Amino acid sequence: MAAPAPVALLLLTAAAVAAVAPAAAELPRLEHHPHRGDDGSVSLLVVGDWGRHGAYNQSMVAAQMGVVGEKMDIDFVISTGDNFYKNGLTGVDDKAFEESFTDIYTAKSLHKPWYTVLGNHDYRGDALAQLSPVLRKVDSRWICIRSFVVSAEVSDFFFVDTTPFVLKYWTDPKNSKYDWRGVSPRETYIANVLEDLEEALKQSTATWKIVVGHHAIRSVSEHGDTQELLQHLLPILKAHGVDLYLNGHDHCLEHISSRDSPLQYLTSGGGSKAWRGVQTANADKVEFFYDGQGFMSLRLAAAPAPAEASLAFHDVAGNVLHTWALAKPAARY
Ligand SMILES: *[C@@H]1O[C@H](CO)[C@@H](O)[C@H](O)[C@H]1NC(C)=O
Repeated sequence: MAAPAPVALLLLTAAAVAAVAPAAAELPRLEHHPHRGDDGSVSLLVVGDWGRHGAYNQSMVAAQMGVVGEKMDIDFVISTGDNFYKNGLTGVDDKAFEESFTDIYTAKSLHKPWYTVLGNHDYRGDALAQLSPVLRKVDSRWICIRSFVVSAEVSDFFFVDTTPFVLKYWTDPKNSKYDWRGVSPRETYIANVLEDLEEALKQSTATWKIVVGHHAIRSVSEHGDTQELLQHLLPILKAHGVDLYLNGHDHCLEHISSRDSPLQYLTSGGGSKAWRGVQTANADKVEFFYDGQGFMSLRLAAAPAPAEASLAFHDVAGNVLHTWALAKPAARY
């Protein structure tokens, strides 16, 4: 009994979905020319889970970032999200923006672009406020886009908005309210982000490919692995030879290496409150785990060959806790 009504209904539903959900499109792409010029190398810091008006050692982490940022002559900073606790910003005029960002990261070396993704706590407030270019009038460093690419010569950075992937934020009635404007419906949004990311990765000719998201793919801390990212995001990263995945969410510093690919999982979520006292096992290889505050530094170079990546984790007292380096032969670019 194939009546025409269900077909019409189906078409109507598809049209309604297309009207509210942004279609797959090219990710916004920003060019960042490393300022040293001579060797084209790029240096940066990575911090996550920070905005608490300086409390829980946020100010101490910020001070050390200033010191390391100057020593490394950094090009920019990456924030892995959960920028403002506990519930993001209330609007573009929320004073937390200045009190937790502008007034905290004051060192001269940190007056560089901050390429930023949203975390789940940012979605609990006015998520659109953090994405608004209006904030750049308050502090020109702030560059927060949902998913985008920063092309920095030797390295491409692919920023992915991971919060909508996590099913429990949508379904658990005990969960806080999330600002899904411009995101819902979830399935369409995720499919589009993955398609856009895959296209951008395919087009990338950079020596280093680095993906940034708020949630961990691999983690041994409180939140552990993110199943939705293992399932949907990880296969794309492996298929396109991504070198590093950077995230926050777990309030710690950690380095886990993939057992069946060159991918390194790096958590830099120690921007303020930490010390959860949880460490679990992981299917991949745990290289380093620190349950306290701090941040990560990273330097990427292509010339002279072989290309070199080196990273370090730093604590609030200025100690280097862990380092890792890789020389990549030209055949693998
Ligand atoms: C601040 O950092 C020190 C040194 O790591 C640590 O002992 C202390 O517990 C931290 N304070 C807070 C509130 O996390």
